[in-house]
Amino acid sequence: ANAANVPLTLALSKGRIFEETRPMLAAAGVEITEDPETSRKLILPTTNPNLRVIVVRATDVPTYVQYGAADFGVAGKDVLLEHGGAGLYQPLDLDIAHCRMSVAVHVDFDYASAVRQGARLRVATKYVQVAREHFAAKGMHVDLIKLYGSMELAPLVGLADAIVDLVSSGGTLRANQLVEVEEIMQISSRLVVNQAALKLKRAALAPLLDAFARTTRANAP
Ligand code: PRP
Repeated sequence: ANAANVPLTLALSKGRIFEETRPMLAAAGVEITEDPETSRKLILPTTNPNLRVIVVRATDVPTYVQYGAADFGVAGKDVLLEHGGAGLYQPLDLDIAHCRMSVAVHVDFDYASAVRQGARLRVATKYVQVAREHFAAKGMHVDLIKLYGSMELAPLVGLADAIVDLVSSGGTLRANQLVEVEEIMQISSRLVVNQAALKLKRAALAPLLDAFARTTRANAP
C-alpha cells in the first residue's frame, strides 16, 4: 500500500503523557486539533488525515497496542512492566513523564528494623509484579494487597505496613505523613509499537518514529 494512505492509530493517556507527546508529534508536522481535557471524544483527529489519536487509561495503552487496535502508543515503564510487554516492540525510551517507583511507609514505622528482623510485611500497591520481584530479590516475605489508586491511604488506616507507588515531587507522600524508604527504579515513558504493524505499516510509521527519535535526542541533557 502507498504509505501516504495507510491509516494509523496512536494510543495516548490524558495528562503528562499526552502533554509531553504533543510536541514530539509537532516535530513530525502533526498537530492534535482537540484537547482531551475539554473534549469528551475518545478518538481525536490530527492535522494528518491518516493519523488519529485514541485517548485511553494509562494502564490500557499496552493492551490496545498489543491487539492492534492502536498501531503505536506511549506508556510508562511502570505500566509496561505490569503488562508484561507481549506483542509489543519497544524501540525508544522517550525520556518523558519522569518519576520513580518507591517503597514508602508511615513516618512512625521503623522499616529498617522490620527488614532486619525479617518481619512479614503487608504491602499495598497497584504494581504487584514490580513489588513481588523487588521484595523477592531482597529475600523478604511480603503479603501483597492489590489496590487501584490512593495507595497512600493504606498505611494510614492499617490496611498495609508499606506501599509501592510512583513518586514525583514527593508532595503526596508528605501530605500523608509517609516517607520514601527505598527507590525501586526510575520511570519514564516509552514508545510501544504493535509488532505486526511494524512490519505491515513500516513505511507509514517510519516518519513518525523518526520524529520521536529526533525529539528524544534533542531533549537529552
Ligand atoms: C501519582 C502517584 C502518586 C502521585 C505522586 O498519582 O500514584 O499518588 O502521583 O506524585 P507526587 O510525588 O508529585 O505527589 P497520579 O496523580 O498520577 O494518579 P493515579 O493514582 O491515577 O496514578
